Amino acid sequence: MPEVRKLRIGIVGLGIGMRHASSFAQVPLVEIVAMADPAPNRLGTTVEEFCAHYGAKPYADGYEMMEKERLDAVAICSNPKLHLPLVQAAARKGLHILMEKPMAGTVEDCEGIIEACRRAGVQLHMEFPMRQLAPMVELKRVLDAGTLGRPFMVNCDYVSGLRTPNHWIWVMGDGSSPVNENTCHGIDSVRYILGDVDRIYAEADNFIGQGPNEVADAAAFTMHHKGGGISTLVGGACATGEMDTPIRMSVFCTEGQATVDGLHHTFSRLKWARRGGETWEHDWGDAPSLRSMMGQPYARYPLLEPSLKNFVENLLSGKPAAATADDGRENVQICLAVLESARTHQPVDIRQPVLR
Ligand SMILES: NC(=O)c1ccc[n+]([C@@H]2O[C@H](COP(=O)([O-])OP(=O)(O)OC[C@H]3O[C@@H](n4cnc5c(N)ncnc54)[C@H](O)[C@@H]3O)[C@@H](O)[C@H]2O)c1
Repeated sequence: MPEVRKLRIGIVGLGIGMRHASSFAQVPLVEIVAMADPAPNRLGTTVEEFCAHYGAKPYADGYEMMEKERLDAVAICSNPKLHLPLVQAAARKGLHILMEKPMAGTVEDCEGIIEACRRAGVQLHMEFPMRQLAPMVELKRVLDAGTLGRPFMVNCDYVSGLRTPNHWIWVMGDGSSPVNENTCHGIDSVRYILGDVDRIYAEADNFIGQGPNEVADAAAFTMHHKGGGISTLVGGACATGEMDTPIRMSVFCTEGQATVDGLHHTFSRLKWARRGGETWEHDWGDAPSLRSMMGQPYARYPLLEPSLKNFVENLLSGKPAAATADDGRENVQICLAVLESARTHQPVDIRQPVLR
């Protein structure tokens, strides 16, 4: 019997990257060859000890790891400002890429990332895990089957917890605000249902005073989708931890309605109903919060497992990414348009690319 080909993977950055390791470890078709982090202050152990647990080689620097190891693919889990140079280094080595959201802190960096991958002929899969969770997969199946008619309006509540004032999330060009760093999950989920966006109107401000005054910690906005649908979202980093950060998305359709929701930033329930007819609901069970996993570097994080498994399977079978580089770029463009609209009190037309 020929030996089954395994994907040789490296991980750059061991913040959320530590949960990539526990997720990839569930996929038989993966070998975690090496992992890198110069200052893993959330890991709770050393890079050496962490790597030994997975039989991987430790590095202090992701660039050196990509240079020295024979890899097929790399998961980039650094802060967003480093995504472009890390992609350029990975592309030079011909490595396929799993890119943590957001793709970057600027649209210009997104363009650079797309160009580096195009030139090197490597694939980039965006890590937008929400669209690959079981309730979303089922919701999409029901909508595509036409059971509820045509979806035309979505309402999404996607607010994260507070962030420390010195975090890179507040630095424009890096995290580029909690909207870009976190509400992007809600935006991606809405785009998954209603498609690309052409117009945005937003109100946003810094209400709690966590980061700099000029960077919003809360945003409420509407989007008009190219296919004619409309959506409304609330986001930012202003939730109360004791509420376990519930998230929710309701989809209104010509012949019915559906809602996905859940705790700890993970959709775990789906309910739908046909107007005057059948109703259906299922609860896949609440996911653990990242906060509850602190001090447990090897704990599994169910939010990431379906999307990392899909990344490996899609790459090995030549199937397209579940969330593409274009999705990554459009989501960053929307987030920056939200901030611009809030600043100017004008709607922003994003049909024309806005380079920053
Ligand atoms: N999908 C999700 O649910 C999810 C959750 C959290 C974070 N994220 C995203 O993942 C990315 C990282 O977020 P985080 O919270 O883990 O940030 P973090 O700052 O906690 O961790 C990033 C790590 O990258 C390391 N790093 C920096 N330069 C490096 C290099 N040259 N080589 C190797 N490592 C290097 C840093 O030392 C740091 O430990 C961000 O884009 C973030 O938005 C996604």
